[in-house]
Amino acid sequence: MTIRAGIIGCGGIAKCHVAGYKSNNIAITAVTDINPDAAKAMGAELGAEVFASAGELIESGRADLVSICTPPAAHEADAVFALEHGVHVLLEKPSAANVESARKIKVAADKSDARLMLAFRHRFIPAIVRMKEMIDSGCLGQVVFFQNTFCGPAFGMKDKWFSKKAVAGGGSMLDTSSHSVDLFRFLIGEVTKQHAVCHTHLEGTDVEDAAIIVLKAENGAIGSLTSAWVAGTGKADIIIMGQDGKAEYTYGGDLTFHKRGAEKPEKIEIPELTGGFAEQIGSFIKAIESNQEPEITAFDGLRCLEIIEACYKENEK
Ligand SMILES: NC(=O)c1ccc[n+]([C@@H]2O[C@H](COP(=O)([O-])OP(=O)(O)OC[C@H]3O[C@@H](n4cnc5c(N)ncnc54)[C@H](O)[C@@H]3O)[C@@H](O)[C@H]2O)c1
Repeated sequence: MTIRAGIIGCGGIAKCHVAGYKSNNIAITAVTDINPDAAKAMGAELGAEVFASAGELIESGRADLVSICTPPAAHEADAVFALEHGVHVLLEKPSAANVESARKIKVAADKSDARLMLAFRHRFIPAIVRMKEMIDSGCLGQVVFFQNTFCGPAFGMKDKWFSKKAVAGGGSMLDTSSHSVDLFRFLIGEVTKQHAVCHTHLEGTDVEDAAIIVLKAENGAIGSLTSAWVAGTGKADIIIMGQDGKAEYTYGGDLTFHKRGAEKPEKIEIPELTGGFAEQIGSFIKAIESNQEPEITAFDGLRCLEIIEACYKENEK
């Protein structure tokens, strides 16, 4: 079976999806964007047909699957429409702008014969795959703390849709920490409690740009997830402290393991530094070809939204 891909939303992240499809030898046959120039440019580059809307692209039958790479508030309508038309969906994170929409996406995915996978690509980053193996093999012992930071100078967010609640659904907690919440659920376990504090430093926006979320897992492990668009210097890392040792990964850098009692940490070899996009698309294609549940489902997208929305509610008080 030759699978043909369509792209809905031809902006920044769509380019990473395009590269991922190319790595998996999947042809991109159809593209669309609310901004016709963006669609035309991508269509011309790929030799793909350009459609005036997502609806027309889905109804055309020119794509067996779509990557939805639009802002969160636009996700529900296109994901549901694609699923109703038997078109598989790779849906960018966060699943939607709110829990209600994420729930509708899950209902549509449950009803459809088509597959929906959430694009929580960090799960496929080789160092994170290795961390999961370390936890599952027991070499860290019972996990005590999970600490994940995604901070950096992204002051320009102020002028983008990311800072508009109606389009984005939220600020750094939803945009950035949705990856962290998913990583916590993937690596550590299901969340039983969540708390957060957040603040808005950038003027003229209605979303937070700095936050710390605290999570507790069923197994007692505690997570601290830090996000900021306004930190003057960047930091992106994961530290997992277990009773028998600590694993530490700095994005773009090393993965280390410090065994309890050892004098110093050892470096763990990882195959290569990738963003996980090609692996994510490989996994999605495998799920379609084998008619299996994707590795990351609409439920994972919904749980992430439920946890983060509870954090927002707590901060409204
Ligand atoms: N997985 C990751 O690491 C990662 C990184 C960045 C962004 N994202 C996610 O990807 C999505 C898109 O983000 P981006 O950074 O590519 O944004 P972007 O602004 O660069 O691109 C979005 C594109 O969608 C188009 N668009 C907007 N509404 C549309 C609609 N209703 N129909 C068709 N096209 C529409 C815009 O014109 C634009 O070209 C968001 O959900 C974001 O959270 C994920």
